[in-house]
Amino acid sequence: MKFVSELKRTHYCGLLSKAQVGQKVVLMGWVDTRRDHGSLVFIDLRDREGIVQVVLDPKKPETSSSKDLRGEYVLAVEGIVKARPDGMVNSKIKTGMIEIEAIRCEILNSAVTLPFQPNDPNVQESLRLKYRYLELRSEKLQSQIILRHKVLQSVRKFLSENGFIEVETPILYKSTPEGARDYLVPSRVNPGTFYALPQSPQTLKQLLMIAGYDRYFQIARCFRDEDLRADRQPEFSQIDMEMSFIDKEDIIELNERLLRMIWKDVKGVDIGTVPRMTYQEAMDRYGIDKPDTRFGMEIQDIASVVKGCGFKVFDDVLSRGGIVRGITVPKGGEFSRGQFDKLTDIAKKAGAKGLVWIKSENNQLTSPISKFFSPEKLQEMFNHCGAKAGDAVLIVGDDFDTACAALSTLRLHLGRELKLIDTSKDKFLWVVDFPLLEYSPDEKRWVARHHPFTSPTNEHMDILLKGDESQYGKLLAKAYDLVCNGYEMGGGSIRIYNNDVQQAMFKTLGMSPEETKHKFGFFLEALKYGTPPHGGIAWGVDRLVMILCGTEAIREVIAFPKTAKATCLMSDAPSEVNRDQLAEVGVKLSPLAEKHLEELHKLQGQPGHD
Ligand code: AMO
Repeated sequence: MKFVSELKRTHYCGLLSKAQVGQKVVLMGWVDTRRDHGSLVFIDLRDREGIVQVVLDPKKPETSSSKDLRGEYVLAVEGIVKARPDGMVNSKIKTGMIEIEAIRCEILNSAVTLPFQPNDPNVQESLRLKYRYLELRSEKLQSQIILRHKVLQSVRKFLSENGFIEVETPILYKSTPEGARDYLVPSRVNPGTFYALPQSPQTLKQLLMIAGYDRYFQIARCFRDEDLRADRQPEFSQIDMEMSFIDKEDIIELNERLLRMIWKDVKGVDIGTVPRMTYQEAMDRYGIDKPDTRFGMEIQDIASVVKGCGFKVFDDVLSRGGIVRGITVPKGGEFSRGQFDKLTDIAKKAGAKGLVWIKSENNQLTSPISKFFSPEKLQEMFNHCGAKAGDAVLIVGDDFDTACAALSTLRLHLGRELKLIDTSKDKFLWVVDFPLLEYSPDEKRWVARHHPFTSPTNEHMDILLKGDESQYGKLLAKAYDLVCNGYEMGGGSIRIYNNDVQQAMFKTLGMSPEETKHKFGFFLEALKYGTPPHGGIAWGVDRLVMILCGTEAIREVIAFPKTAKATCLMSDAPSEVNRDQLAEVGVKLSPLAEKHLEELHKLQGQPGHD
């Protein structure tokens, strides 16, 4: 290992340019490709910054090891940077103007044949995740992970320059409700008790405001045991911040500046001012609180048109307080019955009981419900949705939430399918005036829409304090979400900073005084010791980087992600632990867990162990 101990690397392969022509350089990296021309061996040497071509003469003793080189061998090369002759320039790579004429080379390590080539896009995801460290060698992942680093660096700089102090908060903590299940960690020292991993540092950052830190931020790790989707991971990172003596406008202004800086830095674009929309408007126009505003296809209310027409389905829905709304599908008149059946399935999967369609083909309207309406009425419904000859409309009649869910799902599906989304631009939106509470039919109680620390608006404070349940559905929160291209990129609120209001909130959520004391006694007490008005927000780092990289898969921007079943295919986590270790932390497996393990052993062909 003379190279590493005596000869130090002088440059990264991918950063070499014509500026170094004539210089002696020392490079270290991996053999990306190798071409043996007999008298000369050409390799592309790769490191984190890119590749450069190295030319080696196997006849020279100092470079004779080039005969033995294979893909992914780790190599050190000393050589002279040469300009390539005009005809030999490779415009496909950054360093294509030059090559390295090797003086010496040493194999630092060999490599067995890889299970797949890092840059091969046609490899099964399970295999890529099993060998994630090999996939991380790919150009795409490397550039995305490096971009993540750069974005976080500039966020840190921005927040520090704006008076924020970075504080690390504990991971072994107590339940912080953000709507998911907790990950629990048993305590060995205090058997029978558990830590919860934080779903977010919410209470901790508020305590830092009580402590007088005034402006806090953290690139915070959060843990949520919830159903995973393409944009969700069980552990993820937030750019988490909190500020004292501010209102909603201050938070929005600062975060918009941060957003503008990131887009200018990474994409070189000025995103201007971010528009705002109330929650109600977002639901009415797009059926969702995180609308993708890169395309139209907005929802139209046709209740006034269909009301009293004698079509029982719609009449029943409207008399129960539901809605009848539709969207226009441009050129949907060409859709076949099979295509409408597929759209009906999508609506049903989103919870709707059915889907009504009307299509215009050869200037004629057809619909499965045409017999219930006069041709004029059908035309009126069609026109009311903003459709023209050759289009189709899709109509859903249901309770508000279900109809919105179905129509927004259809809208997004068709937006993608019909390529209506302008992917060349990112579209941002602040969604404001969220409801404070929502009723959970499963839990048969009111739950906080954002989290229980969010303040109601000043006008609605009394309703909360009086505990008037008939008004709970109308309460608005001082909460805001930052939405981009249909993703909730961030969310926050102005907090409750008064002990009485916070207690009233916990009571509203159906928590008994004992439960409140057990879970949040320490926090309620802290609120009594001089709490400044405060508020904050957290951005999802993974979602932010996902959007910046233009990918729809969160796993592509996380170095070591989990699968949809929250497992790590590389390390096999979560995995069985030995029984002594369990006993030590005071944990005994349930019969269900034992059965699951037995099945697992059978699958792995292992004997069980006690
Ligand atoms: P919230 O729960 O809205 O707010 O989370 C803030 C942001 O975190 C991201 N996010 C996720 N990213 C990946 N995987 C997940 N499972 C996941 N869950 C959430 C989203 C989201 O907008 N404490 C509050 C913030 C506050 O009030 O200041 C909170 O955590 O981008």
